[in-house]
Amino acid sequence: TSLEKTALPLFFGWFLCHPFQENLRSLAVGFLKNLDSLEAFKKNITDFTGSTERDFNLEQHFHDKNMLHCTTKFCDYGKADGAKEYAEKQAVKESCGRVSALVLDALFVTPRTLGARVSLSEEQLQLWPRDAEEDAVPRGSRAHITLSFAEGVEPVQTGLDLLELVRLQLQGQEGKVVRESGLGPLSYYGKGLWVLELREPFLAPACFSSFYG
Ligand code: A2P
Repeated sequence: TSLEKTALPLFFGWFLCHPFQENLRSLAVGFLKNLDSLEAFKKNITDFTGSTERDFNLEQHFHDKNMLHCTTKFCDYGKADGAKEYAEKQAVKESCGRVSALVLDALFVTPRTLGARVSLSEEQLQLWPRDAEEDAVPRGSRAHITLSFAEGVEPVQTGLDLLELVRLQLQGQEGKVVRESGLGPLSYYGKGLWVLELREPFLAPACFSSFYG
């Protein structure tokens, strides 16, 4: 019906349940502080500044993000390709309001974005759109939570930064382990890409829902 056509949201996704938003933010802040203090990071600071600026601060570089979530389908109120088809999928309709645990297994930072990589379960992959990424990478590779982004950066960038990491890893690049932190190894992949692989994944209960903005 025409009434239903007006109901397509800005996007669908999993929204982190309340206390876990704060826990994840603290984890991210700790990650940035740690990185900021590393000699290896300072040595490569031009990745972020384009010059040898001394008083660069990683935490100030990024903006706070409210409402942490993992986007499944960006619908743009129906303007995005496949939005209607996605919204009409049985699995999507049935899952709205359901809570499941998201497994966050890495944090990554680039000069543009700060994000958490999400490893989707088989069941969660049922809600992952077919067109989220090209065929060259495993389905669900782009799943992430944007934690922050730098001034002037589009939100869509976090997923693209993660795909870049996935492609490098598929090509066999492992990154250079710069530090073994309590949380896991921290590696540098070049061009400002830093990844903390979490030894113990961060489990975040999250509610699947649509968002209208
Ligand atoms: P992300 O999922 O990385 O957080 P906006 O506020 O710009 O309208 O975006 C709303 C949400 O949809 C954000 O969470 C954003 O990124 C995601 N998003 C925005 N544009 C796209 C896009 N073209 N493709 C996929 N996701 C998008």
